[in-house]
Amino acid sequence: MKTVKIGLLGFGNVGGGAFHILSENKELIAKRTGVAAEVTRILQRNRNKKRLFAADPALLTEDPDDIIKAPDIDIVVEMIGGIEPATSFMCQAMENGKHVVSANKAAIAANYRLLTETARKNNVEFLFEASVAGGIPVLSALAGPLGANNFLEITGILNGTTNYILTKMTEEGLSYEEVLKDAQAKGFAEADPTADVEGIDAANKLSILIALAFGHYVAPDAIPTVGITGISAADIEAAENAGQKIKLLARASLREGMVEYLVAPAFLDKSHPLAGVNNEFNAVYVTGDMVGELMFYGRGAGPLPTGSAICGDIISIIRKRFSL
Ligand SMILES: NC(=O)c1ccc[n+]([C@@H]2O[C@H](COP(=O)([O-])OP(=O)(O)OC[C@H]3O[C@@H](n4cnc5c(N)ncnc54)[C@H](OP(=O)(O)O)[C@@H]3O)[C@@H](O)[C@H]2O)c1
Repeated sequence: MKTVKIGLLGFGNVGGGAFHILSENKELIAKRTGVAAEVTRILQRNRNKKRLFAADPALLTEDPDDIIKAPDIDIVVEMIGGIEPATSFMCQAMENGKHVVSANKAAIAANYRLLTETARKNNVEFLFEASVAGGIPVLSALAGPLGANNFLEITGILNGTTNYILTKMTEEGLSYEEVLKDAQAKGFAEADPTADVEGIDAANKLSILIALAFGHYVAPDAIPTVGITGISAADIEAAENAGQKIKLLARASLREGMVEYLVAPAFLDKSHPLAGVNNEFNAVYVTGDMVGELMFYGRGAGPLPTGSAICGDIISIIRKRFSL
């Protein structure tokens, strides 16, 4: 059986999850694609850090060139996060003829044109399903099964941390500060929650959705963005009294041929399907001119849901480029 060699950049939450799935479901993936997908190298920074899933120490390296420049690696999976050095690593891997998969919404939203153009020039695949709504396969659905539609509107609950905070504020009548503290203690919110609570993470994901759905790149910092830090217990109660819920929505819509976009908290009638999306769950509500309305729902984060999307991209690349 043919073997495709995979290098993982990053061995944290997502890197660990992807590695676990590729090991655990190795035979299933080989049976479905006719190709063995083998992780042959993993980049980490700190050799002494305890890992979520154990790997053979012989696979581990601290030198990115062992993956990016290795002649025997076919697919590079970027899971280190941040704009740099992640963008440079991805471009270099593509220039060395490697297909690239990434979960990194910050780097992709900031450098969408550079990354897609570098992939095109080097005739390699660049897939990033995990970067928007984690385990929910919305990007491939927009590009594939929904590709015959003009998209009229895309509205998402794209950030699990803020959805968790708003859900707890609603259900338990607590203040934003109280819930944030609890979420941090439970590991649902980062020690520095700025990117989540200020809506920056949702804007990065909306930028990627706009590029794919409307063929139009909008830099994330050009998307008007309001987070949830100003939402009070009184706002939540007012929504409740009006039969509504407050959700942080990332929305792009087509009005008279122009794409309008915004990330902001919004009052939603409880009957709206997005009002029922609670805790850390994500959802994307899509209106296409032919298909009508659809909703995608699931886990937007976590090692295994996100790893599932990464592995789906790896399988797509194997089928397109290696299963012949
Ligand atoms: N967490 C999620 O549920 C989730 C969901 C969707 C998308 N994502 C995206 O996935 C990416 C990874 O997230 P994560 O939660 O897995 O992060 P993480 O747990 O912090 O893991 C990052 C990994 O990258 C390594 N790393 C970071 N900078 C590096 C550098 N300059 N050189 C070499 N290695 C470096 C770290 O090494 P050390 O461990 O040795 O420090 C670590 O193994 C991010 O882009 C994030 O936005 C995450």
